[in-house]
Amino acid sequence: MDKLNVKKIKTDFPILKQKVNGEQLVYLDSAATSQMPVSVEEKIKNFTEINRANVHRGVHTLGLRATNLYEESRQKVADFIGASSAEEVIFTSGCTDSLNLVAASFGEQNIQAGDEIVVSIMEHHSNLLPWQQLAKKKKAQLNFIEISKDGRLDLNDLKNKISSKTKLVALTHVSNVLGTINPIKEAIALAHEKDAVVLVDGAQAVGHFPVNVTNLGADFYAFSGHKMFAPTGIGILYGKKELLDKMPPYRFGGEMIANVTREGATWAETPQKFEAGTPNISAAIGLAAAIDYLNSIDLKLIQKHETELTAYALEKLSNISDSTIYGPKESYERTGVISFNLKNIHPHDLATALDLNGIEVRAGHHCAQPLMESLQTESTVRASLSIYNSKDDIDKLVSSLQEAKEFFSEFR
Ligand code: ALA
Repeated sequence: MDKLNVKKIKTDFPILKQKVNGEQLVYLDSAATSQMPVSVEEKIKNFTEINRANVHRGVHTLGLRATNLYEESRQKVADFIGASSAEEVIFTSGCTDSLNLVAASFGEQNIQAGDEIVVSIMEHHSNLLPWQQLAKKKKAQLNFIEISKDGRLDLNDLKNKISSKTKLVALTHVSNVLGTINPIKEAIALAHEKDAVVLVDGAQAVGHFPVNVTNLGADFYAFSGHKMFAPTGIGILYGKKELLDKMPPYRFGGEMIANVTREGATWAETPQKFEAGTPNISAAIGLAAAIDYLNSIDLKLIQKHETELTAYALEKLSNISDSTIYGPKESYERTGVISFNLKNIHPHDLATALDLNGIEVRAGHHCAQPLMESLQTESTVRASLSIYNSKDDIDKLVSSLQEAKEFFSEFR
């Protein structure tokens, strides 16, 4: 298999050329938001300058062009994730919105008092709070699957936690803190044995390796555009058509109706039923361009590059004395989301020191406080890798961490 040409890829992302705090920018926060290549910007510019209009409304030429582009994007997403049809793809404002949609529609309709909802302890708050709120409202029980010491999902615990009372299992595909790639196909099969519906949070998975929702057997699969080189403000909810067809709308307004009278309304078919109001048309079109970009590189090559770089980073970081790295030690069990701490230095201090050297990482609880509690820490530093990162970036990170370590040791 070929290698990624990282030097060439970097030139596709003009933002990476700049200096930050007088130093060459090293962007290691792609798990929060990835950067956007020129081709995505150009597609949006082209839409804005030539085809901009609302979708599914007018019969005029621009309206038809905009509608075609928007629906082509839906088909592109469907093909990219292996959905059986574009009708199974709903445009949302982001992964959080997608997860909330399932809670507000499927959850409201199907979860009753005494039912059980299962999540893992490694969920991002966005795949926890909707279920916590719903469970409280419906008097349902929320159960947590625990993780092993090295941050892997405990499949035995999953077997124990899923019972005939379980109506929904909401699981992340990849942890946004540990980088763990969960055995989602096995988890889905186990849940289906008990007739539980499975929602997968794919925010940290899509764009890093091939994802096929049909092959996984997922009932729902949610992700965001801005973590896979598309603009912010666009997300996807994939849902099996037979489930989506039975679910009620969760927002009301224009474009989601079949007919409205003084007394009431009937709903449009799936997916329009879930897309009330004017959607983020340009971002949806940008998402299609991001998928073209990913396909032009090849997801398998992307996965290989990120896995190799993760192995390199894990080794270098573990050689720093007094470092703690969270998550699986084997790079093939994880993605390039690497959380760590250096003894006696607060993650925010480290992130600030790195920023002074032009290195952008995230520090904090990463919207996963129950996981932090389980890891017995309050926060971590998190470096997250993408296709535009190289071994040089890791070397700069490691030497800056060594520098910071020496600097802070003077205050002890
Ligand atoms: N969910 C994003 C992260 O993990 C924002 O950083």
